[in-house]
Amino acid sequence: MNYIHALISRKLNFYGNTNPVELTGKYGSPLYVYNESVIRSKCSELKGLTDYPDFVVNYSPKANSNVEILKIVKDEGLLVDAVSSGEIFTDLMAGYSPEDIFYVCNNVTAEELSYAIDARVKISVDSISQLELFGKLNPGGEVSIRINPGVGTGHHKKVVTGGQSTKFGIDIKLIEDVKRILNRYNLTLSGLNQHIGSLFMDSGAYLKSAEIILDIARQFNNLKFIDFGGGFGIPYNKQNNESRLDLKTLGEKLTQIINNWIKEYGRQVTFIIEPGRYIVAESAVLLGSVTAIKLNYNIKYIGTDIGFNVLPRPMIYDSHHDIEIYRESDVQSAKSESVWIVGNMCETGDIIAKDRTLPEIFENDIIGILDSGAYAYSMSSNYNNRLRPAEVLIDINGNDRLIRKKETFEDLVDNFT
Ligand SMILES: Cc1ncc(COP(=O)(O)O)c(C=O)c1O
Repeated sequence: MNYIHALISRKLNFYGNTNPVELTGKYGSPLYVYNESVIRSKCSELKGLTDYPDFVVNYSPKANSNVEILKIVKDEGLLVDAVSSGEIFTDLMAGYSPEDIFYVCNNVTAEELSYAIDARVKISVDSISQLELFGKLNPGGEVSIRINPGVGTGHHKKVVTGGQSTKFGIDIKLIEDVKRILNRYNLTLSGLNQHIGSLFMDSGAYLKSAEIILDIARQFNNLKFIDFGGGFGIPYNKQNNESRLDLKTLGEKLTQIINNWIKEYGRQVTFIIEPGRYIVAESAVLLGSVTAIKLNYNIKYIGTDIGFNVLPRPMIYDSHHDIEIYRESDVQSAKSESVWIVGNMCETGDIIAKDRTLPEIFENDIIGILDSGAYAYSMSSNYNNRLRPAEVLIDINGNDRLIRKKETFEDLVDNFT
């Protein structure tokens, strides 16, 4: 096998004892390939964010909820979030105890909230009306509330979840209303949480929001935990040497903020972060095959089987993913050229990379879409009645293992009555 353009995966020995051509031959194309060592090292990095002794990392499985991946994350000692009853279910399947699951919901039905209450997981609500619903369903219970600190961050306006233009969290001006509902239903406020957006590379807004939530927390005497949220970014543009998030400085500043606050609060409180992307994004490469090449009005299109049903981020957020090229034959690419890499879906927006300069690509080449571990499979769909691909893990010894089967046509029709 010939690595045409693959510096990043080669440096990591990402494919261990196997290679992309062998893997797609064995499991089909497209194919999500995960690397266990990468997941474990990302867990360690975030566990070491602060030396504050009572610090917990809750993994956010909306980024990737494959149960085998959850088991690895659990084995690394991370606790877990859930944003739906389905995520509570898969967290439990991965072996998490209810008390280790933090359900952070938004606009849910009484039925869904009851499922979480009955499952005995920790619950956070994010509006006065949902706090009231919780009170009615579970008077005398323990609850956390999600604050909107008035500050947001994120790689795209669709994922900024704090500030003036988002549906999330409780406006800090409404804290007196929160207290009234807590009293009315005899609820104990055990925690405060927030999540101000996804993918920050500059920690300014995150640190500012930490100060704001701690300011609110002063008003409540018996808090058990404060959760600052996730959003830790990863460099998607490694081929252009994009810098990493400076976790060391972020950790030092956060520790200082926490220690100053704790001195004043006078009681031990657990501090939590809830990252999704940072743990899994870099752990996967989405492999696909080059199926057709054409020139259409001066644009060279590289047609692949990687539609936006398996990688929605470029379509939804105009996100960049680095691309690698692998080839079975020994033929070399003599030149580089600008191409558009596109998928097989029946929509013009089905574009993975626009005007990307890459070594010449040929039919039957395998391309690897880097950093596809977060918000890829978890956001995938059956649009156009396409099947979701298999997921494979390169384990700690470099060997491949199937962790989710490829869908079948029967999966498309199973629920018809
Ligand atoms: C409530 C909540 N927590 C955590 C996360 C994880 O975010 P990220 O994957 O950016 O770390 C999200 C994602 O949007 C979220 O909505």
